[in-house]
Amino acid sequence: MQQYSDTWRGNRRLFQQHFRQSASRRFHPAQYHKINQYLHSLIIVPEEFMQHTMSLSQGLIYSSLYGLDIGSEDLLAKKAIESVALIGRALLESFPAVERFPWLRFMPSWFPGCGFQQIADKLGQIIREVDTIPFDEAKTGAGTSLIAELALENEGRPAEIKKIKSMGTISFLGKTLFCTMSSISAFLLTMVQHPDVQFKARAEIDRVIGRDRLPKFEDRRSLPYVESVYRKIMRMHPALPLGLFHVSIEDDFYQGYHIPKGCKPFASPLAMNRDPNVYSEPDRFMPERFLDSPDGPFTSINNILAFGFGRRVCVGRYMADNTVWLAIASVLATLDLQKAKDNEGNEVDIPGEYTRTFFRHPKPYRSSITPRDLQARDLILATATMVD
Ligand code: HEM
Repeated sequence: MQQYSDTWRGNRRLFQQHFRQSASRRFHPAQYHKINQYLHSLIIVPEEFMQHTMSLSQGLIYSSLYGLDIGSEDLLAKKAIESVALIGRALLESFPAVERFPWLRFMPSWFPGCGFQQIADKLGQIIREVDTIPFDEAKTGAGTSLIAELALENEGRPAEIKKIKSMGTISFLGKTLFCTMSSISAFLLTMVQHPDVQFKARAEIDRVIGRDRLPKFEDRRSLPYVESVYRKIMRMHPALPLGLFHVSIEDDFYQGYHIPKGCKPFASPLAMNRDPNVYSEPDRFMPERFLDSPDGPFTSINNILAFGFGRRVCVGRYMADNTVWLAIASVLATLDLQKAKDNEGNEVDIPGEYTRTFFRHPKPYRSSITPRDLQARDLILATATMVD
C-alpha cells in the first residue's frame, strides 16, 4: 500500500534481495516439508481440506522466514487471519467511504459509515502483535532463519530492523496467506470439476517420474501438461481479482480517457485474463491452450498476470510460483479428487462458486479426497515427516 518513495524503494530492495529467483531456492526445503505434511493432512482428515490449505500457506511462511513451527490453532495464526479479513473489509468497504467523505474522520465511531475507525484501531493493534511476536521468537529461538540472520546482522540499526520486521509481516499477512491458499484451493476445486484433466496430468507424472517418489522442482521442465494446468489455474482464478490499486502521480490520458492525478485505477487480472477479445471461450478450463501455444507453457513467470506487472509486480512471485506448482504436482501425483457422494451413493453436485471478496477463493463445498491407491498412501506416510 506504500506510495512510490524512498521508503518503498528501501523496503522493496530488501525483499528483492531475499525473494529473487536464485534466493528463493533457500525456501525449497521448507516447501517440500510443508507440502508433504499437507498431503498427509489431506489423507487423514480430508473433509477439512480448506483448513489444511490455509495451514499450509501459514505454516510455510512461518517456517521459511522465521524458522518457527506454527500450527493453525496457534493464537498468532488466528490473529493473522483475523487481520487479513479486516484488511479486506477495510479496502473494499470502509476506506473508500472515508476517501469520498473525508469529514467522516471527525465523527464518532458509532456514526453511520464510521465503522472504519473501529476496524483501523483493531487492525493496528493486531498488526503490532503479528509484527513483533514471531520476530522476537525467531531472534531468540534455537534455529537459524532468514529473519534471525538479518536481525543479527542489523543489531543496533532500528531503521533496518523495522524494514526486516515489515518484510516478515507483509509476506505473511498481505500475500502468502490468502494468495497461496486461494490459488491452491482453486486448483482443488477445478480438479474435482475436471477429472479428465486430473487423469491426464497424473499420467504425465507417472510416465516422467514414476511412482516411487514425489515430484521435485528439477522435474518441472519435464512436465509440460502439469505446467499448463498450473498456468491455467493462475489465469482463470487470480487470487486478487482486482489486483491492488495504484495511484496516478500525474494527470494522464490513455486511449481517450482522462486519468486525473490522484486517481486510483485497478488493473484487474480477472477481467484481463477472461477478455473474450483475446481468448475464445475464456471461461472454459482448457490447459491444452498453453501446451499448444507457439511459446509452450514454460514462458517467464512474469507473464502470469495474477502476480501483477510493472515496478510493483509481486515481489514474492518466485516463492509463490514454486509453492503453488509443487502443491499442484504433489497432489496430482498421489491423490484422487472427486465429488462427494450422498448416503445413496449419488454424487453431490458442487456449485463451483467463488467469493466476491478482495481475496477471491472457492466458497465451501464437499468433495472426496483419497490416496489414489495403497502405493500413494505409503509414499505420503513415508515422506510426511521427512525434511528434504
Ligand atoms: C499465489 C500467490 C501470490 C499472488 C497471486 C500474488 C499477487 C500479487 C499481486 C497481484 C500484487 C500486486 C501487484 C501490483 O500492485 O500490480 C502483489 C504484490 C506484492 N506481493 Fe504478492 N502474490 C502472491 C504471493 C506473494 C508472496 C509469497 C509474497 C512474499 C513472500 C508476496 C509479496 C508481495 C509484496 C511485498 C507485494 C507488494 C509489492 C510492491 O508494492 O512493491 N506475494 N502480489
